[in-house]
Amino acid sequence: MPPVSRVGEYTHLTARDLTPPGEPEVFFEPADTEIGVWVAADLLPPGGGGTVLDLGSGSGAAAAAMARAGAARVHGVDSGRQTLRWAERHHASPDGRVTFALGDYSVLSPRELLATAPGELPGPIVVTSNPAYVPLPPEAARERPSISGGADGLKWAGAIIGHARALGADLGLTIGSYSTPRRAVALLAEAGYRIATVTLCPLPFGAFTLRHPERVLALEERGEAVLWRSGPDPLAYFVVGLACRRATDTDTDTEQAGSAKELMDLLHTAARSTGTRLESLDAPGGAPPPWPVRVLDLPPAVARHHW
Ligand SMILES: C[S@@+](CC[C@H](N)C(=O)[O-])C[C@H]1O[C@@H](n2cnc3c(N)ncnc32)[C@H](O)[C@@H]1O
Repeated sequence: MPPVSRVGEYTHLTARDLTPPGEPEVFFEPADTEIGVWVAADLLPPGGGGTVLDLGSGSGAAAAAMARAGAARVHGVDSGRQTLRWAERHHASPDGRVTFALGDYSVLSPRELLATAPGELPGPIVVTSNPAYVPLPPEAARERPSISGGADGLKWAGAIIGHARALGADLGLTIGSYSTPRRAVALLAEAGYRIATVTLCPLPFGAFTLRHPERVLALEERGEAVLWRSGPDPLAYFVVGLACRRATDTDTDTEQAGSAKELMDLLHTAARSTGTRLESLDAPGGAPPPWPVRVLDLPPAVARHHW
């Protein structure tokens, strides 16, 4: 059985990254950002190298951490002007190894996305994204572009997966356990991706999501969202980092088709835990997950800021 490993502290983000930016249009949710870096690190070549193309790069802290984790080059694209200014000021590297550009990845073609980066990007390319993934009703969605993932949380997933596929890249995608994970895996499988590793991090609902839980609760009712109700917070979920590789000819259909059910089973098992180490994942019995699973049991952030 692939092991469940646990990490009890921030490994990739620095103390400076854990300080709220204090800018109204810069996303700050360190657990989300940290998980995105783990996912990228799972996909980088052993020994380092290659390029990470980070779609929706936010504060830029993740991009800088991905370079520290071994990427030879990281280029982040974000549609927020204030976000981009922050990232360039604080996380672009003078040697050009970490760069950022303004762009809407749902509009740009893969070629246009690459053209936003100065210079050549060394291969292999890994595409990563921690997109806005909260299912929200339309009126609430307009208020929070940095977290609004449309009706099912996957509004941005199609564009992200499409870019990765067109670039022949492995893909790190972060979603919530309420962002219709079954459908996410189906979209990945349709595009020829299979899950290689899963990283989970329990997180209480953010204040805004807690005020607008309708869509999430409706999805839970339909069996398409997994919430965590037996943990320390009244309403929590799991951030789910999916490190995905392009499927090879030797992957069987069953391996690909089975992974949606197996991911849902994993989330339901995690949701039976009472502690943030997600101890239920160690319980004997039941089918073991087919991938290595990492649990991030992180100290709570000093603040959370979504815009
Ligand atoms: C959930 S935040 C994640 C930020 C960063 N990846 C992190 O993990 O800290 C999503 C980011 O995507 C950006 N974004 C949303 N839609 C986008 C789009 N269509 N194109 C580019 N960026 C987008 C937002 O401005 C926001 O900074």
